[in-house]
Amino acid sequence: MKKINITETVLRDANQSLMATRMPSSDFEAVLETMDQAGYHSLECWGGATFDSCLRYLDEDPWDRLRKIKSKVKKTKLQMLLRGQNILGYKNYPDDIVRLFVAHAVDNGMDIIRIFDALNDPRNLEVAVSETKKRGAEAQGTICFTTSPVHTLENNVKLGKRLADMGCDSIAIKDMAGIMSPREVYDLVKALSENVKLPIVIHTHCTTGLGPMTYLKAVEAGASGIDCAISAFSGGTSQPATESMAYALDGMGFETGLDFKVLKNINDFFKPVKEKAIKAGLITPYLLGTETDALVYQVPGGMLSNLVAQLTAQNAMNRFGDALEEMPRVRKDLGYPPLVTPTSQMVGVQAVTNVLVGERYKNISKEVKAYIAGEYGKAPGEVDPGLISKVLGDEKPITCRPADLLKPAFEKAKSEIGEKARNDEDVLSYVAFPQVAESFFDRRAAREKGTVKYSIRKVE
Ligand code: CO
Repeated sequence: MKKINITETVLRDANQSLMATRMPSSDFEAVLETMDQAGYHSLECWGGATFDSCLRYLDEDPWDRLRKIKSKVKKTKLQMLLRGQNILGYKNYPDDIVRLFVAHAVDNGMDIIRIFDALNDPRNLEVAVSETKKRGAEAQGTICFTTSPVHTLENNVKLGKRLADMGCDSIAIKDMAGIMSPREVYDLVKALSENVKLPIVIHTHCTTGLGPMTYLKAVEAGASGIDCAISAFSGGTSQPATESMAYALDGMGFETGLDFKVLKNINDFFKPVKEKAIKAGLITPYLLGTETDALVYQVPGGMLSNLVAQLTAQNAMNRFGDALEEMPRVRKDLGYPPLVTPTSQMVGVQAVTNVLVGERYKNISKEVKAYIAGEYGKAPGEVDPGLISKVLGDEKPITCRPADLLKPAFEKAKSEIGEKARNDEDVLSYVAFPQVAESFFDRRAAREKGTVKYSIRKVE
Protein backbone atom coordinates (compact mmCIF):
# COMPACT_ATOMS: atom_id res chain seq x y z
CA MET A 1 0.00 0.00 0.00
CA LYS A 2 1.38 3.36 -0.94
CA LYS A 3 1.77 5.79 1.95
CA ILE A 4 0.36 9.26 1.37
CA ASN A 5 1.73 11.95 3.65
CA ILE A 6 -0.83 14.29 5.12
CA THR A 7 0.24 17.74 6.24
CA GLU A 8 -2.21 19.45 8.62
CA THR A 9 -2.58 23.17 7.91
CA VAL A 10 -5.02 24.31 10.62
CA LEU A 11 -2.33 26.22 12.51
CA ARG A 12 -1.00 28.11 9.48
CA ASP A 13 -2.74 28.16 6.10
CA ALA A 14 -6.28 27.36 7.26
CA ASN A 15 -5.85 29.93 10.02
CA GLN A 16 -4.51 32.40 7.44
CA SER A 17 -7.06 31.69 4.71
CA LEU A 18 -10.19 31.61 6.88
CA MET A 19 -9.51 33.93 9.81
CA ALA A 20 -6.82 36.33 8.59
CA THR A 21 -4.21 34.53 10.76
CA ARG A 22 -5.75 35.80 14.01
CA MET A 23 -5.68 32.52 15.93
CA PRO A 24 -3.73 33.11 19.15
CA SER A 25 -1.54 30.35 20.58
CA SER A 26 -3.89 30.15 23.56
CA ASP A 27 -6.55 28.84 21.14
CA PHE A 28 -4.58 25.75 20.14
CA GLU A 29 -1.93 25.04 22.79
CA ALA A 30 -4.14 22.55 24.60
CA VAL A 31 -4.58 20.33 21.54
CA LEU A 32 -0.96 20.12 20.37
CA GLU A 33 -0.17 16.90 22.22
CA THR A 34 -3.27 15.30 20.72
CA MET A 35 -2.28 16.50 17.27
CA ASP A 36 1.08 14.81 17.75
CA GLN A 37 -0.75 11.47 18.09
CA ALA A 38 -2.80 11.71 14.88
CA GLY A 39 -0.21 10.29 12.48
CA TYR A 40 0.30 13.43 10.41
CA HIS A 41 3.42 13.63 8.30
CA SER A 42 3.84 17.24 9.40
CA LEU A 43 2.09 20.20 10.99
CA GLU A 44 2.29 23.39 9.00
CA CYS A 45 2.41 25.79 11.89
CA TRP A 46 4.65 28.77 11.24
CA GLY A 47 5.79 31.25 8.60
CA GLY A 48 3.53 32.79 5.99
CA ALA A 49 1.52 35.52 7.69
CA THR A 50 1.69 33.98 11.19
CA PHE A 51 4.89 35.81 12.05
CA ASP A 52 3.57 39.26 11.23
CA SER A 53 0.22 38.52 12.82
CA CYS A 54 1.79 37.39 16.11
CA LEU A 55 3.69 40.65 16.46
CA ARG A 56 1.07 42.98 15.00
CA TYR A 57 -2.25 41.69 16.30
CA LEU A 58 -1.75 38.97 18.87
CA ASP A 59 0.98 40.41 21.08
CA GLU A 60 2.91 37.16 20.81
CA ASP A 61 6.56 36.53 20.13
CA PRO A 62 6.50 34.31 17.01
CA TRP A 63 9.70 32.58 18.10
CA ASP A 64 8.12 31.77 21.45
CA ARG A 65 5.16 30.32 19.60
CA LEU A 66 7.47 28.04 17.65
CA ARG A 67 9.30 26.87 20.78
CA LYS A 68 6.01 26.25 22.54
CA ILE A 69 4.73 24.12 19.66
CA LYS A 70 8.01 22.20 19.52
CA SER A 71 7.87 21.43 23.23
CA LYS A 72 4.47 19.72 22.82
CA VAL A 73 4.88 18.15 19.38
CA LYS A 74 7.63 15.60 19.84
CA LYS A 75 7.31 13.17 16.96
CA THR A 76 5.44 14.97 14.16
CA LYS A 77 7.55 17.18 11.93
CA LEU A 78 6.99 20.92 12.06
CA GLN A 79 6.71 22.75 8.78
CA MET A 80 6.79 26.39 7.72
CA LEU A 81 6.28 28.51 4.61
CA LEU A 82 9.13 30.82 3.60
CA ARG A 83 9.03 33.33 0.77
CA GLY A 84 12.62 32.63 -0.36
CA GLN A 85 14.74 35.75 -0.44
CA ASN A 86 11.72 37.74 0.86
CA ILE A 87 11.67 35.57 4.04
CA LEU A 88 8.21 36.56 5.34
CA GLY A 89 7.89 39.99 3.80
CA TYR A 90 7.53 41.51 0.35
CA LYS A 91 11.00 42.70 -0.52
CA ASN A 92 14.34 41.03 -1.02
CA TYR A 93 16.57 40.73 2.03
CA PRO A 94 20.34 40.34 1.94
CA ASP A 95 21.80 36.85 2.20
CA ASP A 96 23.04 37.20 5.79
CA ILE A 97 19.46 37.83 6.94
CA VAL A 98 18.04 34.91 4.95
CA ARG A 99 20.70 32.55 6.33
CA LEU A 100 20.29 33.69 9.94
CA PHE A 101 16.53 33.48 9.71
CA VAL A 102 16.63 29.91 8.42
CA ALA A 103 19.29 28.95 10.96
CA HIS A 104 17.23 30.25 13.88
CA ALA A 105 14.03 28.69 12.57
CA VAL A 106 15.74 25.28 12.46
CA ASP A 107 17.43 25.81 15.84
CA ASN A 108 14.04 26.56 17.37
CA GLY A 109 12.51 23.37 16.03
CA MET A 110 11.58 23.68 12.36
CA ASP A 111 11.91 20.41 10.40
CA ILE A 112 10.58 21.19 6.92
CA ILE A 113 10.89 24.55 5.19
CA ARG A 114 8.74 25.06 2.10
CA ILE A 115 10.47 27.74 0.08
CA PHE A 116 8.83 29.66 -2.76
CA ASP A 117 9.26 32.72 -4.91
CA ALA A 118 6.41 34.77 -6.37
CA LEU A 119 8.07 34.77 -9.81
CA ASN A 120 9.32 31.17 -9.65
CA ASP A 121 12.82 32.62 -10.09
CA PRO A 122 15.00 29.82 -8.73
CA ARG A 123 17.81 32.25 -7.89
CA ASN A 124 15.56 33.69 -5.19
CA LEU A 125 15.38 30.25 -3.53
CA GLU A 126 19.03 29.24 -3.62
CA VAL A 127 20.30 30.79 -0.40
CA ALA A 128 17.35 29.66 1.71
CA VAL A 129 17.62 26.14 0.29
CA SER A 130 21.35 25.94 0.91
CA GLU A 131 21.03 27.15 4.53
CA THR A 132 18.12 24.80 5.23
CA LYS A 133 20.23 21.87 4.03
CA LYS A 134 23.25 23.05 5.98
CA ARG A 135 21.18 23.14 9.18
CA GLY A 136 19.92 19.61 8.61
CA ALA A 137 16.27 20.41 7.87
CA GLU A 138 14.24 19.37 4.83
CA ALA A 139 14.29 21.91 2.00
CA GLN A 140 11.06 21.76 0.04
CA GLY A 141 11.38 23.70 -3.23
CA THR A 142 8.17 25.12 -4.63
CA ILE A 143 6.60 25.58 -8.04
CA CYS A 144 3.90 28.26 -7.84
CA PHE A 145 1.16 27.00 -10.11
CA THR A 146 -0.34 29.39 -12.62
CA THR A 147 -1.66 29.25 -16.16
CA SER A 148 -0.19 31.28 -19.05
CA PRO A 149 1.36 30.65 -22.46
CA VAL A 150 4.83 30.45 -20.85
CA HIS A 151 3.84 28.18 -17.96
CA THR A 152 3.97 25.05 -20.04
CA LEU A 153 4.41 21.55 -18.71
CA GLU A 154 7.91 21.67 -20.17
CA ASN A 155 8.85 24.84 -18.28
CA ASN A 156 7.42 23.52 -15.03
CA VAL A 157 9.47 20.34 -15.42
CA LYS A 158 12.54 22.47 -16.12
CA LEU A 159 11.93 24.35 -12.87
CA GLY A 160 11.46 21.04 -11.04
CA LYS A 161 14.82 19.83 -12.33
CA ARG A 162 16.46 23.06 -11.28
CA LEU A 163 15.03 22.66 -7.75
CA ALA A 164 16.42 19.12 -7.62
CA ASP A 165 19.85 20.29 -8.82
CA MET A 166 19.78 22.95 -6.13
CA GLY A 167 19.56 20.19 -3.51
CA CYS A 168 15.87 20.35 -2.59
CA ASP A 169 14.66 17.23 -0.75
CA SER A 170 11.10 17.46 -2.06
CA ILE A 171 8.99 19.57 -4.39
CA ALA A 172 5.72 21.32 -3.60
CA ILE A 173 3.26 22.39 -6.26
CA LYS A 174 1.57 25.41 -4.74
CA ASP A 175 -1.82 26.33 -6.11
CA MET A 176 -2.52 29.39 -4.03
CA ALA A 177 -5.72 30.30 -5.87
CA GLY A 178 -7.30 26.84 -6.02
CA ILE A 179 -7.55 26.95 -9.82
CA MET A 180 -5.51 23.84 -10.61
CA SER A 181 -7.80 21.27 -12.20
CA PRO A 182 -7.61 17.48 -11.71
CA ARG A 183 -6.40 17.14 -15.34
CA GLU A 184 -3.65 19.74 -14.88
CA VAL A 185 -2.33 18.29 -11.63
CA TYR A 186 -2.39 14.77 -13.09
CA ASP A 187 -0.32 15.80 -16.11
CA LEU A 188 2.06 17.91 -14.07
CA VAL A 189 2.73 15.28 -11.40
CA LYS A 190 3.23 12.60 -14.09
CA ALA A 191 5.64 14.76 -16.07
CA LEU A 192 7.55 15.86 -12.98
CA SER A 193 7.92 12.38 -11.54
CA GLU A 194 9.25 11.06 -14.84
CA ASN A 195 11.99 13.67 -14.75
CA VAL A 196 12.72 14.37 -11.10
CA LYS A 197 13.20 11.66 -8.50
CA LEU A 198 11.90 13.62 -5.54
CA PRO A 199 8.71 13.34 -3.48
CA ILE A 200 6.03 15.68 -4.83
CA VAL A 201 3.62 17.41 -2.46
CA ILE A 202 0.45 19.17 -3.61
CA HIS A 203 -0.96 22.28 -2.00
CA THR A 204 -4.32 23.67 -3.06
CA HIS A 205 -7.37 25.49 -1.71
CA CYS A 206 -11.08 24.67 -1.98
CA THR A 207 -11.91 28.17 -3.24
CA THR A 208 -13.31 27.06 -6.60
CA GLY A 209 -14.45 23.62 -5.43
CA LEU A 210 -11.79 21.69 -7.36
CA GLY A 211 -9.59 20.89 -4.34
CA PRO A 212 -10.58 17.34 -3.34
CA MET A 213 -10.79 16.16 -6.99
CA THR A 214 -7.42 17.71 -7.70
CA TYR A 215 -5.88 15.90 -4.71
CA LEU A 216 -7.31 12.56 -5.74
CA LYS A 217 -5.88 12.82 -9.26
CA ALA A 218 -2.57 14.08 -7.85
CA VAL A 219 -2.27 11.01 -5.67
CA GLU A 220 -3.23 8.74 -8.58
CA ALA A 221 -0.50 10.37 -10.64
CA GLY A 222 2.08 9.58 -7.95
CA ALA A 223 2.14 12.54 -5.58
CA SER A 224 3.49 11.56 -2.17
CA GLY A 225 1.72 14.11 -0.04
CA ILE A 226 -1.16 16.57 0.21
CA ASP A 227 -2.00 19.49 2.50
CA CYS A 228 -5.31 19.21 4.35
CA ALA A 229 -7.12 21.06 7.12
CA ILE A 230 -9.07 19.45 9.96
CA SER A 231 -12.71 19.61 8.86
CA ALA A 232 -13.82 22.44 11.18
CA PHE A 233 -11.27 24.62 9.41
CA SER A 234 -11.56 23.16 5.90
CA GLY A 235 -13.34 24.14 2.71
CA GLY A 236 -13.86 27.50 1.07
CA THR A 237 -10.65 29.48 0.91
CA SER A 238 -8.97 26.82 3.11
CA GLN A 239 -7.79 23.28 2.25
CA PRO A 240 -9.85 20.12 1.67
CA ALA A 241 -10.81 18.34 4.90
CA THR A 242 -8.23 16.01 6.45
CA GLU A 243 -10.80 13.41 7.55
CA SER A 244 -12.60 13.27 4.18
CA MET A 245 -9.42 13.01 2.14
CA ALA A 246 -8.01 10.33 4.45
CA TYR A 247 -11.29 8.40 4.32
CA ALA A 248 -11.39 8.52 0.52
CA LEU A 249 -7.73 7.58 0.12
CA ASP A 250 -7.84 4.75 2.64
CA GLY A 251 -10.80 3.34 0.73
CA MET A 252 -8.84 3.43 -2.50
CA GLY A 253 -5.93 1.39 -1.26
CA PHE A 254 -3.64 4.18 -0.15
CA GLU A 255 -2.43 4.48 3.41
CA THR A 256 -2.49 7.79 5.25
CA GLY A 257 -1.57 6.36 8.64
CA LEU A 258 -4.03 8.73 10.31
CA ASP A 259 -5.97 7.72 13.42
CA PHE A 260 -9.62 8.70 12.88
CA LYS A 261 -10.43 8.70 16.60
CA VAL A 262 -7.66 11.20 17.23
CA LEU A 263 -8.79 13.28 14.25
CA LYS A 264 -12.27 13.38 15.76
CA ASN A 265 -10.84 14.70 19.03
CA ILE A 266 -8.85 17.34 17.18
CA ASN A 267 -11.91 18.41 15.22
CA ASP A 268 -14.05 18.57 18.37
CA PHE A 269 -11.42 20.81 19.88
CA PHE A 270 -11.41 23.21 16.91
CA LYS A 271 -15.19 23.50 16.49
CA PRO A 272 -15.62 26.03 19.34
CA VAL A 273 -12.48 27.85 18.17
CA LYS A 274 -14.23 28.34 14.84
CA GLU A 275 -17.49 29.40 16.54
CA LYS A 276 -15.62 32.03 18.51
CA ALA A 277 -13.96 33.33 15.33
CA ILE A 278 -17.31 33.52 13.54
CA LYS A 279 -18.83 35.46 16.46
CA ALA A 280 -15.87 37.85 16.43
CA GLY A 281 -16.44 38.44 12.71
CA LEU A 282 -13.07 36.93 11.84
CA ILE A 283 -14.58 34.16 9.72
CA THR A 284 -17.24 35.30 7.28
CA PRO A 285 -19.60 32.86 5.54
CA TYR A 286 -18.38 34.16 2.17
CA LEU A 287 -14.99 32.53 2.74
CA LEU A 288 -16.54 29.15 3.45
CA GLY A 289 -18.49 28.84 0.22
CA THR A 290 -17.48 27.83 -3.29
CA GLU A 291 -16.62 30.71 -5.59
CA THR A 292 -16.27 29.71 -9.24
CA ASP A 293 -15.76 33.13 -10.84
CA ALA A 294 -12.01 32.59 -10.60
CA LEU A 295 -12.37 29.72 -13.09
CA VAL A 296 -14.20 31.94 -15.57
CA TYR A 297 -11.77 34.86 -15.30
CA GLN A 298 -8.64 32.80 -14.61
CA VAL A 299 -7.62 35.13 -11.81
CA PRO A 300 -7.52 34.28 -8.10
CA GLY A 301 -10.68 34.99 -6.11
CA GLY A 302 -8.82 37.40 -3.84
CA MET A 303 -7.95 39.55 -6.84
CA LEU A 304 -11.60 39.77 -7.86
CA SER A 305 -12.68 40.98 -4.43
CA ASN A 306 -9.79 43.50 -4.38
CA LEU A 307 -10.90 44.74 -7.79
CA VAL A 308 -14.44 45.28 -6.57
CA ALA A 309 -13.14 47.05 -3.45
CA GLN A 310 -10.87 49.36 -5.48
CA LEU A 311 -13.53 50.28 -7.99
CA THR A 312 -16.17 50.80 -5.32
CA ALA A 313 -13.81 53.11 -3.41
CA GLN A 314 -13.38 55.20 -6.56
CA ASN A 315 -17.06 55.07 -7.35
CA ALA A 316 -16.27 53.35 -10.64
CA MET A 317 -17.96 49.96 -10.49
CA ASN A 318 -19.33 50.69 -13.97
CA ARG A 319 -15.78 50.04 -15.24
CA PHE A 320 -15.64 46.53 -13.73
CA GLY A 321 -15.80 44.82 -17.14
CA ASP A 322 -13.06 47.03 -18.61
CA ALA A 323 -10.77 46.50 -15.60
CA LEU A 324 -11.33 42.76 -15.76
CA GLU A 325 -10.32 42.71 -19.42
CA GLU A 326 -7.30 44.89 -18.72
CA MET A 327 -5.91 42.54 -16.06
CA PRO A 328 -4.73 39.77 -18.41
CA ARG A 329 -3.26 42.40 -20.75
CA VAL A 330 -1.20 43.92 -17.94
CA ARG A 331 -0.12 40.46 -16.86
CA LYS A 332 1.03 39.71 -20.41
CA ASP A 333 2.94 43.04 -20.59
CA LEU A 334 4.75 42.05 -17.38
CA GLY A 335 5.79 38.66 -18.73
CA TYR A 336 3.05 36.56 -17.09
CA PRO A 337 3.99 36.62 -13.40
CA PRO A 338 2.13 34.03 -11.28
CA LEU A 339 -0.70 35.87 -9.53
CA VAL A 340 0.39 35.63 -5.93
CA THR A 341 1.39 38.31 -3.40
CA PRO A 342 2.91 40.74 -4.32
CA THR A 343 2.50 40.38 -8.10
CA SER A 344 -1.28 39.94 -7.89
CA GLN A 345 -1.59 43.39 -6.24
CA MET A 346 0.75 44.96 -8.82
CA VAL A 347 -1.21 43.62 -11.77
CA GLY A 348 -4.61 44.42 -10.21
CA VAL A 349 -3.77 47.99 -9.22
CA GLN A 350 -2.07 48.76 -12.55
CA ALA A 351 -5.03 47.42 -14.52
CA VAL A 352 -7.47 49.63 -12.58
CA THR A 353 -5.18 52.65 -13.01
CA ASN A 354 -4.88 52.05 -16.75
CA VAL A 355 -8.64 51.92 -17.12
CA LEU A 356 -9.52 54.85 -14.86
CA VAL A 357 -6.81 57.21 -16.15
CA GLY A 358 -7.93 56.44 -19.67
CA GLU A 359 -4.39 56.01 -20.97
CA ARG A 360 -2.43 52.81 -20.44
CA TYR A 361 0.66 53.21 -18.23
CA LYS A 362 0.32 56.97 -17.95
CA ASN A 363 0.74 56.38 -14.23
CA ILE A 364 2.90 53.45 -13.18
CA SER A 365 3.14 52.34 -9.55
CA LYS A 366 6.51 52.28 -7.82
CA GLU A 367 6.16 48.51 -7.37
CA VAL A 368 5.61 47.92 -11.08
CA LYS A 369 8.60 50.14 -11.86
CA ALA A 370 10.77 48.09 -9.51
CA TYR A 371 9.44 44.89 -11.07
CA ILE A 372 10.31 46.14 -14.56
CA ALA A 373 13.76 47.15 -13.34
CA GLY A 374 14.30 43.48 -12.41
CA GLU A 375 14.35 44.09 -8.67
CA TYR A 376 12.03 41.19 -7.90
CA GLY A 377 13.86 38.74 -10.15
CA LYS A 378 13.36 37.41 -13.63
CA ALA A 379 9.86 37.49 -15.10
CA PRO A 380 8.65 34.12 -16.41
CA GLY A 381 8.06 35.52 -19.90
CA GLU A 382 9.21 38.58 -21.81
CA VAL A 383 8.36 41.99 -20.36
CA ASP A 384 6.99 44.31 -23.05
CA PRO A 385 10.02 46.19 -24.49
CA GLY A 386 8.00 49.39 -24.94
CA LEU A 387 7.08 49.32 -21.26
CA ILE A 388 10.71 48.76 -20.27
CA SER A 389 11.92 51.80 -22.19
CA LYS A 390 9.02 53.85 -20.89
CA VAL A 391 10.03 53.11 -17.30
CA LEU A 392 13.81 52.86 -17.57
CA GLY A 393 14.60 55.13 -20.52
CA ASP A 394 18.04 54.18 -21.78
CA GLU A 395 18.85 52.06 -18.75
CA LYS A 396 18.54 48.30 -18.75
CA PRO A 397 16.85 46.11 -16.15
CA ILE A 398 19.24 44.33 -13.82
CA THR A 399 19.84 40.72 -14.79
CA CYS A 400 21.76 39.51 -11.73
CA ARG A 401 20.13 37.88 -8.72
CA PRO A 402 18.53 40.91 -7.00
CA ALA A 403 20.02 40.09 -3.58
CA ASP A 404 23.53 40.23 -5.07
CA LEU A 405 23.15 44.00 -4.90
CA LEU A 406 22.30 44.04 -1.19
CA LYS A 407 24.79 44.57 1.63
CA PRO A 408 24.69 42.46 4.82
CA ALA A 409 22.18 44.00 7.23
CA PHE A 410 22.13 42.02 10.48
CA GLU A 411 24.82 43.87 12.45
CA LYS A 412 23.46 47.24 11.45
CA ALA A 413 19.93 46.28 12.50
CA LYS A 414 21.25 44.87 15.77
CA SER A 415 22.89 48.15 16.75
CA GLU A 416 19.90 50.12 15.51
CA ILE A 417 17.38 48.33 17.74
CA GLY A 418 19.87 48.09 20.61
CA GLU A 419 18.74 46.74 23.97
CA LYS A 420 15.11 46.42 22.98
CA ALA A 421 16.13 43.21 21.21
CA ARG A 422 16.95 40.54 23.76
CA ASN A 423 18.43 38.01 21.37
CA ASP A 424 19.18 37.41 17.70
CA GLU A 425 15.62 36.22 17.11
CA ASP A 426 14.33 39.61 18.22
CA VAL A 427 16.73 41.29 15.80
CA LEU A 428 15.36 39.13 12.98
CA SER A 429 11.79 40.06 13.94
CA TYR A 430 12.91 43.68 13.79
CA VAL A 431 14.53 43.25 10.37
CA ALA A 432 11.40 41.60 8.99
CA PHE A 433 8.87 44.10 10.41
CA PRO A 434 10.72 47.10 11.87
CA GLN A 435 7.97 49.31 13.33
CA VAL A 436 5.69 46.43 14.24
CA ALA A 437 8.45 44.54 16.06
CA GLU A 438 9.72 47.60 17.88
CA SER A 439 6.29 48.45 19.15
CA PHE A 440 5.87 44.82 20.23
CA PHE A 441 9.17 45.04 22.17
CA ASP A 442 7.96 48.23 23.88
CA ARG A 443 4.66 46.69 24.90
CA ARG A 444 6.42 43.56 26.10
CA ALA A 445 8.73 45.61 28.33
CA ALA A 446 5.85 47.72 29.64
CA ARG A 447 3.80 44.64 30.38
CA GLU A 448 6.64 43.08 32.32
CA LYS A 449 7.09 46.24 34.36
CA GLY A 450 3.40 46.12 35.09
CA THR A 451 2.69 49.51 33.56
CA VAL A 452 0.47 48.03 30.88
CA LYS A 453 -1.66 44.98 31.38
CA TYR A 454 -3.56 44.77 28.15
CA SER A 455 -2.91 43.16 24.79
CA ILE A 456 -3.43 45.17 21.61
CA ARG A 457 -6.41 43.22 20.58
CA LYS A 458 -8.11 40.55 22.57
CA VAL A 459 -10.48 38.31 20.70
CA GLU A 460 -12.82 36.56 23.06
CO1 CO B 1 -2.09 28.19 0.53
